[in-house]
Amino acid sequence: MKIPNRIQPLVDDGLIDTVLQRLKSGKEADVYTVLCGDKIQCAKVYKEASQRSFKQAVQYQEGRKVRNSRHNRAMQKGSRFGRKQQEESWHTAEVDALFRLAGAGVRVPQPYLCIDGVLLMELVTDADGAVAPRLSDVTLSEENALADFETMIRNIVRMLCAGIVHGDLSEFNVLLDAQGPVIIDLPQAVDAAANNHAESMFERDVNNITAYYGQFAPQLLQTRYAKEIWLLYEEGKLTPETPLTGKFVEAAHTVDMDSLMDEIITAEDEHYERLRAARERDEQ
Ligand SMILES: Nc1ncnc2c1ncn2[C@@H]1O[C@H](COP(=O)(O)OP(=O)(O)OP(=O)(O)O)[C@@H](O)[C@H]1O
Ligand SMILES: [Mg+2]
Repeated sequence: MKIPNRIQPLVDDGLIDTVLQRLKSGKEADVYTVLCGDKIQCAKVYKEASQRSFKQAVQYQEGRKVRNSRHNRAMQKGSRFGRKQQEESWHTAEVDALFRLAGAGVRVPQPYLCIDGVLLMELVTDADGAVAPRLSDVTLSEENALADFETMIRNIVRMLCAGIVHGDLSEFNVLLDAQGPVIIDLPQAVDAAANNHAESMFERDVNNITAYYGQFAPQLLQTRYAKEIWLLYEEGKLTPETPLTGKFVEAAHTVDMDSLMDEIITAEDEHYERLRAARERDEQ
């Protein structure tokens, strides 16, 4: 096919040989299969800021900072240079998250590089080498749903242990390859510790995934993984191997043992006092 303008610089630099096919034109990006040497890879071309939608919402930006403080100031001021920086930080957020997650053992496409608003990464394929389907396009047996759900929860835990909340996780942003689920689409990923909305986004992510697998294995709809995992994370007890139950009990009111003991003793005293008074009456 004709090489899209935005990909041309990567072709000129010899990073991409040809563009094979446009896979999808999404809300935030156009995704292509491309040939690099003899390997088919995936190129995600981000749309201009003005064409993008919700993922830029301020709640995703909170706690997100680029390393250079001069750039941070420029971004806050909104100057032309600042807007360019903002744009670049949006592009690099996804590749940064992918590198970090791949390193933490989360199943994501292997990223290669990101330049001029084009992210080059591994193409996720099915057992026959065709482009992998999204979860939203497949039907699962109960057995596979239960197994894949467990894998997803482990991936989500690994992601949180690496300090990242996806923020837009659902059956539309998970592909299914021969080994199981692969998580994609992370430009909006948030810093679990620095963003005040991280907990609610985490809950939404886990609940979306639970609802999806719950269609095929309804017993999953009773689980409370989001709250259980977040509590362990907040208490600093979460590791990639932490055993989980899917159960969560709301914290009971804390009991003030001292005043409880006082009340028991007072009740006991009153009881013996009544017994003594009764005995005295009997003796009279
Ligand atoms: N590494 C990949 N391997 C195979 N297919 C991919 C890969 N990355 C993206 N895709 C395909 O391209 C689609 C769009 O990618 P992605 O979700 O990252 O972009 P998006 O613009 O945010 O899309 P949307 O707005 O639909 O969420 C995916 O749903 C998937 O079908
Ligand atoms: Mg998507």
